[in-house]
Amino acid sequence: MKPQPVIVVHGGAGRVSEDRREAFLDGIREALDRGLEALESGGSIAAVREAVMSMEACEVMNAGRGAALDVEGNVSLDAGFMEGATRRFGGVTGVTSTMHPVLLAQHMASRGDFGQLIGAPASDELAHELDVPLCRPEDLIVEHRRAAHAENAHDAGADTVGAIALDADGHVAAALSTGGTNVKPPGRIGDSPIVGAGFWADDEEGVCVASGVGEVLMREGTARRCIRLVSSGLAATDAAAAALAATVDYEGDQRGPCGVILLTVDGRFAINHTSESMPAGWAGVDGNSEVRDVWSRTIAVER
Ligand code: GLY
Repeated sequence: MKPQPVIVVHGGAGRVSEDRREAFLDGIREALDRGLEALESGGSIAAVREAVMSMEACEVMNAGRGAALDVEGNVSLDAGFMEGATRRFGGVTGVTSTMHPVLLAQHMASRGDFGQLIGAPASDELAHELDVPLCRPEDLIVEHRRAAHAENAHDAGADTVGAIALDADGHVAAALSTGGTNVKPPGRIGDSPIVGAGFWADDEEGVCVASGVGEVLMREGTARRCIRLVSSGLAATDAAAAALAATVDYEGDQRGPCGVILLTVDGRFAINHTSESMPAGWAGVDGNSEVRDVWSRTIAVER
């Protein structure tokens, strides 16, 4: 029997203040609605793109307009994209001229034999070459980020947005987008555009998107690790827990709160995080869905 098509999205591992909780959950619901519609009409690639574009436009989330500011008070955006059918990946970093870097990352997945990763200033030049909505760098900045920056607040709230989907033809896809860590140094690149760290998609194995402190996710190759664990026979929830365990330092000191969403090719999924919360949700074409800000925080005790 064919697995039911499903989309899973998250609005970032981190800590969501009570006054922003409903806005985050509404943003997740909107992303699921838009993603599910695209899943039914255009498949997994369209679904993850549309879901992430919806969250890039959600100003409480750390992506697109409303993303976290760097130490100099500017926004620069990273994004990643991967198609499970071909394993072609795309990544962009340092984007300042569109609030939808996910569109650039999707385009990069069509370049070369394997896809490609590009940085600034070529990423902004690409935005001007393609038919994507453009903006000024200052249009990406919203007031609550300015206020946090003025206080030198290091806490970005929640980190990165991401979506994964499985469609009726058995194809999976992954997309993610971020402003990176709060008060990051200019030019810093996180996990979101890095294949294997922030995302992985393979029709034979499954699909995963990670969120959290990029340096930890890059060090551990978290998205690839999740899917390798699924391939080695672990259930989705156990694979997520084991991959997150590896993001916790040996002493048990959790230096980088992280989270993952992952989906197997038979339609099973896991949403798991070590962070205080991770607004996220899933929706199936059968009409079932769920949206919450706190999910399983179980991590496997052994590395
Ligand atoms: N996870 C996003 C970043 O570290 O940039």
